[in-house]
Amino acid sequence: MLESLWTTLPKQDIDLVIHRPYQKGLIIGAGQVGMSCAYSMLIQNTLDEMVIYDINTEKLKGEVMDLGHGLPFVQPTKVRAGTIADGAGADIVVITAGAKQKPGESRLDLVHRNVKIFKDLIPNLVEHCPNAVLLVVTNPVDIMTYVSLKLSGLPSSMVIGSGTVLDTARFRYLLAEKLEIAPQSLHAYIIGEHGDSEVAVWSKVNVSGMQLFGNDYDSTEEKMQQMEKIFMDVKNAAYEVIQRKGATCYAIGLGVTQIVQSILRNQNRVLTVSSLMQGHAGLKDVCLSLPAVVSAHGVARVLNLELTPNEEEQLQHSGRVLQDILKDLDL
Ligand SMILES: NC(=O)c1ccc[n+]([C@@H]2O[C@H](COP(=O)([O-])OP(=O)(O)OC[C@H]3O[C@@H](n4cnc5c(N)ncnc54)[C@H](O)[C@@H]3O)[C@@H](O)[C@H]2O)c1
Repeated sequence: MLESLWTTLPKQDIDLVIHRPYQKGLIIGAGQVGMSCAYSMLIQNTLDEMVIYDINTEKLKGEVMDLGHGLPFVQPTKVRAGTIADGAGADIVVITAGAKQKPGESRLDLVHRNVKIFKDLIPNLVEHCPNAVLLVVTNPVDIMTYVSLKLSGLPSSMVIGSGTVLDTARFRYLLAEKLEIAPQSLHAYIIGEHGDSEVAVWSKVNVSGMQLFGNDYDSTEEKMQQMEKIFMDVKNAAYEVIQRKGATCYAIGLGVTQIVQSILRNQNRVLTVSSLMQGHAGLKDVCLSLPAVVSAHGVARVLNLELTPNEEEQLQHSGRVLQDILKDLDL
């Protein structure tokens, strides 16, 4: 009956002229974070095809039905629930599967539970999506990025963690509120671990190139207290949100979308993603965040950020915290 609604065109008239590559993404984990990433990528027209996988198949089905019902309102994207094999040929894999923090739990408390999951997951992903950039979101994200790198055998540029992209956004949001300017016009970074040892790079905070503090910033007691309060609010943001609603999801979904777009559209954005340190800031064999250029290769290069001695010492401390965890892992 439907056939009568259209006329089949001769093949040569419907051959597609594809002006840009078809882009496929696989999202692992249909929890709060995975679905926020999916929703954000969908409404920002990021992918041509999105496959979502979760071991909880009923939840997955429900989530994808819900998302699918919104498709008439957005730019065309194929969205489906599937297996890892259905994600074959993906250009990007976003990994959000795993245990999350319970109220009061630190990100590092999750290590062993999530390493166990990744030991099954990563070889399977590499088998089916050998050319995909792996973007790890599961916490503790720096450890899980390193674990993914080792288990995958992929080049280090292709294995990225969302790192301190979210913390950097929180920092910029809070500072921008205080200064009454748009957060997009303020440049500021949180580097190191996505977690308790992260470092605020106060010496580089600037609005349109005007530095707020300078390299040897000496401030009034009151200003120092305000800075400390902002940094504590950044560092404790996840604990505060989790205490109130059980998970953080929207901001990380938006952050992941920006990383994915920078990769798929070769945008060369500078983002504080987590990647393997290979002598950067004197750090080696650990994944953590420094501002890095994110392109079609994944992490194209990590920037040399000039730090004050105090910031430098804090970054080294953050590296040691992560290396202490890594040395106890059996990979
Ligand atoms: N990097 C960041 O900035 C950031 C921010 C927020 C949350 N997170 C982390 O993201 C992760 C997910 O958080 P959430 O709130 O979505 O948790 P959630 O519990 O809502 O979802 C996790 C999902 O993973 C699925 N899962 C578990 N094992 C799996 C496997 N082997 N294969 C496929 N799916 C599997 C579960 O069924 C569940 O649906 C947590 O580790 C959390 O700490 C990271």
